[in-house]
Amino acid sequence: MVLSLVGVGCGHRTLTYCDLAARQPHRYRVVAGADPVASRLDMVRKASRNPQFRGFASDRELFAAGKLADVAVIGTQDDYHVEPCLRAMELGYDVLLEKPIAQDPREVVRLLAAAERLGRRVLVCHVLRYAPFYEQVKAILATGALGELASIDAREGVVAFHQAHSFVRGHWAVRGRSNPMIVAKCCHDMDIISWLVDRPCLRIGSFGSLGHFNAANAPAGAPPRCTDGCPVASSCPYNAMLYASKHRGYLKHVYDHALDASEDDIRAWLTTSPWGRCAYRCDNDVVDRQVLALEFASGLTGTFTMTAFDHGRNLTICGTRAVLRGGDAVKELCGHDIVVEGLHGGRTYYDVDPMAGGYAGHGGGDPGLVHALADELAKPDPRSMRTGLHASVDSHLMAFAAEESRLAGGVPVDLAEFRKRLA
Ligand SMILES: NC(=O)c1ccc[n+]([C@@H]2O[C@H](COP(=O)([O-])OP(=O)(O)OC[C@H]3O[C@@H](n4cnc5c(N)ncnc54)[C@H](O)[C@@H]3O)[C@@H](O)[C@H]2O)c1
Repeated sequence: MVLSLVGVGCGHRTLTYCDLAARQPHRYRVVAGADPVASRLDMVRKASRNPQFRGFASDRELFAAGKLADVAVIGTQDDYHVEPCLRAMELGYDVLLEKPIAQDPREVVRLLAAAERLGRRVLVCHVLRYAPFYEQVKAILATGALGELASIDAREGVVAFHQAHSFVRGHWAVRGRSNPMIVAKCCHDMDIISWLVDRPCLRIGSFGSLGHFNAANAPAGAPPRCTDGCPVASSCPYNAMLYASKHRGYLKHVYDHALDASEDDIRAWLTTSPWGRCAYRCDNDVVDRQVLALEFASGLTGTFTMTAFDHGRNLTICGTRAVLRGGDAVKELCGHDIVVEGLHGGRTYYDVDPMAGGYAGHGGGDPGLVHALADELAKPDPRSMRTGLHASVDSHLMAFAAEESRLAGGVPVDLAEFRKRLA
C-alpha cells in the first residue's frame, strides 16, 4: 500500500521528510502542502515529484479542503504544533509530528488524550531512535552483554557556532517563543536515554545557566550588528560574515537562496536579519550549559550534560559485567563508534554506517524515520510505536521536569508527582 502525505509548514524539516518519502514512490506519495511562504511551498512541490501536488497558503486552508491524505507531516515551528495536530487528527489524519510536541507539558498530555479519544496515530520525530548508531547500542543492550545496568551518562556538545546560530540568534533562542533548551534541543537526548534504559524515570535534578552568550561578554566596542564595523570582526568566532564562507551551511535553513547567494547578497541580508546580530547582544535567554542528575526505577542512575562548548553526542553505559562507550569522541579517539569493555577483560568494537539510509541526516535518523513511518503507523497497538506519543510523552515530561528543577535552583522533581499535577 502507498501511504499518502501532506506537509504542514514546508520549512527545512518538512522538506527533508517529503524529499525522502518521494524517493520511495512504492511506499509514499506526497500529495499536498501548506505554507504562507510561496518559495517554501514550491520547494516541497518540487521535492514531491508529483505533478498533481496541491499547494495551500496555510494549514487552515489545507484542512478546510477536507482529508486529502493518510498522514499529515507537521513541521511548523515549536509554538504551532498543537493546533494543527489536533485539527489533523479530528479530520482523520494520522500525524508525523515534529518535536517538541508542545510548549507546555499540560498540552503534551492533552494531545496524547486527544489521540486516544480519536483513535489516531501520532509518530513524533525523535529521529535518533532510527539512527544506526543508537539502534546498534540498543541491540547490544538487548544481548545482556553488559549485565545488569547500573548507570548511564550522556553528553551533548551542541557546537559553539551552532549554539550561536540556533539558540542565540535563531528560532530557539527565546524560551517563551519556542522552548527551554532542555526541551527544544535535548528532548532527543531524554528520549534516547529513556529508550535505552527502558524503565521509568523517578526523579530529576538540574542546574544550568546562560553564562557566555550575554551582554557581559560582548567585546569592547562591538556594535549591535556584525555588519556595522565591529572592531573584533577578524578574530570573533561568531562574526556573522562567516556565514558567507565557512559557516554557509547553517544559512540554508533560514535563507532559501543561501548556497547561490553572493557575499554582497549575504551582507545585505545580514543587515536586517536576526542572524546579523552580535552574538553577545541578542534577546536570547535559553541556557548554554545544563546538567541533569536522573534516578530511574531499580536504582539505575544517570547524568546528562548539554554544553554549547563541545561537539557531538557521547554515551557511557555501565553494567555489572561490562561498560559500553560510544559517540563522537570515542570515534575520534579510537576510530570505532562503540566499544564494549568487559570489567574483567575483553574488548569488542562496533562500527555503524550512518549512510545506511543513503542520506546522512541526523546520523541516518532522518531516512530511518521516513523508512519506518509506514510500518510504525501500521502497528496494531499505538503504545508499541517506536516514537509514538506514549513513549514520547514520557521523555518530554522528563525534559519539562528538568527545567522545573533548574528554575527552582536544582531541587529534584519527582516525576510521578509532576505528572499528577499536570492531570
Ligand atoms: N527532529 C529534529 O531533529 C528537528 C531538527 C530541527 C528542527 N526540528 C523542529 O522542527 C520544527 C520545524 O523546524 P524547521 O527548522 O523546519 O522550521 P522552519 O521555520 O524552516 O519551517 C516552518 C515553516 O512553517 C511555516 N508556517 C508558519 N505558519 C504556518 C501556517 N499557519 N500554516 C502552514 N505553514 C506555516 C513557515 O512559513 C515555515 O516555512 C520545529 O518545531 C523544530 O523545533 C526538529
